[in-house]
Amino acid sequence: MSSHSSEKRLVLDWTKIQDVFPIESHLAQSHAGIVAAKKTLLEGTGKGNDYVGWVRYIADEAPKMLEAIKPVAENICSHSDAVVVVGIGGSYLGARAVYQALTHAYGHLNPSELTRRPLLFWAGNHMASEELAELLDALDLYSPSLVVVSKSGGTTEPALAFRILKGYLEDRFGKAESKERIFAITDPSDGTLNRLATAEGYPKFPIPKNVGGRYSLFTPVGLLPLAVAGVDVEQLVAGALQAFEDASSEKNNSLETNVALCYAALRNALYKNNFKIEALCTWSPKLTMIAEWWKQLFGESDAKGNTGLFPASASFTTDLHSMGQYFQEGERHMFATHIRVMDEYSIAKGCVKRKVRIPSAGLNDGFEFLTDRELFYVQSEAQQGTLLAHADGKLPSMVWEIPELNAWWIGYWLYTNMFACGVAGYARGINPFDQPGVEAYKNNMFALLGKPGHAERGAEIRARLERGQRLRSLGLTTRS
Ligand code: PA5
Repeated sequence: MSSHSSEKRLVLDWTKIQDVFPIESHLAQSHAGIVAAKKTLLEGTGKGNDYVGWVRYIADEAPKMLEAIKPVAENICSHSDAVVVVGIGGSYLGARAVYQALTHAYGHLNPSELTRRPLLFWAGNHMASEELAELLDALDLYSPSLVVVSKSGGTTEPALAFRILKGYLEDRFGKAESKERIFAITDPSDGTLNRLATAEGYPKFPIPKNVGGRYSLFTPVGLLPLAVAGVDVEQLVAGALQAFEDASSEKNNSLETNVALCYAALRNALYKNNFKIEALCTWSPKLTMIAEWWKQLFGESDAKGNTGLFPASASFTTDLHSMGQYFQEGERHMFATHIRVMDEYSIAKGCVKRKVRIPSAGLNDGFEFLTDRELFYVQSEAQQGTLLAHADGKLPSMVWEIPELNAWWIGYWLYTNMFACGVAGYARGINPFDQPGVEAYKNNMFALLGKPGHAERGAEIRARLERGQRLRSLGLTTRS
């Protein structure tokens, strides 16, 4: 049975944009362009059209893929109580975001009691040796497996982390048993990881050639780790599938009913009118990784040819005590997009919803007027107060109202954002599916490291680094 009820819906409330900046006329003007961009996306006739496979994957492939993933996830659970997901960017952010949102925040302290599922750990998403060394320390406490995710198979961070972790497993369990503990998610026919997995006999899952990293959450990239962690991946896919049907329906081109198109139109209109930064404001520590996923989706998709909104994030109410002043009185070149979960939730032992009430403490601390109120109520009022204050400060805000934080609605919201991202990019005339800019640092790094094929640039790059006067400020104090 679906865990959403029919009267609940995802709402995008943009009242507090209109209050600050009259956007309605801009929306009316852009509507035809947005609808045309939707058609281009669905028909696969736009820029980067060899990477729009994700649009229909959710309907055509994801349900079958779930069936293939289920027994493998069960097998992993039978021998492992921890799984290290090795990947970076689109190859890990989606899984990590949903994992954080839908599993117990303190599960790692007592997995057998709080999660009863393998824990997920993350590697290959950085080059920090101390972090990796500490992960290896932690793995000694568990019986771990590895899921290595890389579409190209050639990305430095996951490739190096995989080498180290594979070595760790082989030292601990031997080569034969390690093979039972390593799973690869990669290009179906090409690339180093694909070749290596075939040679070593690791079970493999495909990332279709026509699906790019940041649009790959509903492929095995997200589904295998999340299934292992006990997230209801059927519901996640079902929510995303409904979002695809709603967003893509030929009959649903009105901005009043198509939230994906409405979001695309609002972002583009604000950007055109000099609001250059969009801050995604979440209201739970459990959603900070959702914001990281969103930043990658829009950051890599939007920023082309020195144009594009800068995607930022804030976690409220925490950041109201750090960034709050900027939101209220900083430069007026930004807008805020809030995620408001309309029903209180918590990932409870046995999935029972629990409410946190404010007790009568007899403290005379000035908060007696809130005795017996739910913390959720206090937060809701804080949200409303924040939106009003920001409107007074001339900061445009819109609010995603998500009925409940469960797998179905998360799937729905994530897919809606992917669709909106594609539409908004096409409406702006850019290619939302490539990321040529991320190659620049890699080329320099490879040249400096002497990677075959890049080495000839090494001397030139090093000379550039050393050329000219060094401009540095040296602290007064020295210590040996
Ligand atoms: O969105 C993207 O395409 C990137 O963020 C990639 O996911 C990231 O660079 C990792 O690439 P790969 O999966 O090839 O290792």
